[in-house]
Amino acid sequence: MTRDSDTRVLITGVAGFGGSSLAGALLAQGYDVTGLDIAPPSHAGLLRRELSDPGFHYLWKSVQDIQAKDMEGHSVVVHLAAQPDAPLAFESPRYTVMQNIEGTVALLEAVRQAGCVSKLMFAASGNEIGRALYLPIDEEHPLTPHNPYGFSKAAAEMALWAWRLSYGVPSIVMNTGVVVGPNMRREVFIFKWLWNALRGQPIVVEGGKQTRDLVFIDDVVEAWMLVIRAPAEKVAGHKFFVGSGEEYTIEGLARICRDTIGSSVPVEHVGYRPGEEGHREAFSVEKARRTLGYAPKVSPVEAVALTAEWVRSLL
Ligand SMILES: NC(=O)c1ccc[n+]([C@@H]2O[C@H](COP(=O)([O-])OP(=O)(O)OC[C@H]3O[C@@H](n4cnc5c(N)ncnc54)[C@H](O)[C@@H]3O)[C@@H](O)[C@H]2O)c1
Repeated sequence: MTRDSDTRVLITGVAGFGGSSLAGALLAQGYDVTGLDIAPPSHAGLLRRELSDPGFHYLWKSVQDIQAKDMEGHSVVVHLAAQPDAPLAFESPRYTVMQNIEGTVALLEAVRQAGCVSKLMFAASGNEIGRALYLPIDEEHPLTPHNPYGFSKAAAEMALWAWRLSYGVPSIVMNTGVVVGPNMRREVFIFKWLWNALRGQPIVVEGGKQTRDLVFIDDVVEAWMLVIRAPAEKVAGHKFFVGSGEEYTIEGLARICRDTIGSSVPVEHVGYRPGEEGHREAFSVEKARRTLGYAPKVSPVEAVALTAEWVRSLL
């Protein structure tokens, strides 16, 4: 593969779960990657291999300070940098808004001024819907966030629409529910439940009847790669849901985690998080299938099992 601007991808939030997984996949396929993150390189533990790859360049800065010159030579930008934790957003709503909205606007301004970017892909969240008006949720569903994190991501997504309509910034919105797999964030409930079950400690479920669409990281990365490879005119201005298309209750997922480990630890119930009661989530992946050729390979149950193997390796 020639090393021209079509093969140079800028990823914000590269040191995280999604960013490091995508960077590895891109480098393996011959792309050059510029990875921006606020984490110092010495703390970017998920990028151990990538940091020594000649095709990888680490840009240590905040997305809030990104400039047009940082875009030079890149036609594809993937925006993952965020405060991604719904629980933290209850405690720190202003910080979350600043990170997720201001960071996105800073990036949009830089992309607009640079003028060289043909695809700007954004990782949106199922929390932007939260209170589904119908199922399965499709790309026409209005944004109906029910918590501060969901609000911050929905506002960031709306900024993408506004900059596209005002300035023609070619954005693509990729919306996922709960992404699991090796290197996932340890604050996410699936990790905590597997970790507890492996150590003989109770699984604590907040609420229980609310539902989620759970998807394996490799399927998400494949969907992102399909967008990166697609002609800009085919995907720019579009939104795609990327999930398993299956709806699981939270208490059902807790049982799957326990069964996967083969443990008999108790499942304890505590109250719902604010706004969480009534959250239902199952995505229609039809548009992604039709337009991108997206076909998830890993079922939610297999995704939990593959994640459990990794969690076990951490003990
Ligand atoms: N993981 C999921 O289940 C999930 C689901 C839907 C959407 N998303 C979205 O996907 C993206 C990636 O999520 P993740 O799970 O990889 O999170 P993560 O926390 O593992 O990665 C986020 C990265 O962004 C970096 N970052 C934070 N603020 C920054 C800033 N101001 N400037 C530069 N870098 C900054 C962090 O240091 C971190 O490396 C986020 O935008 C998140 O909202 C995640």
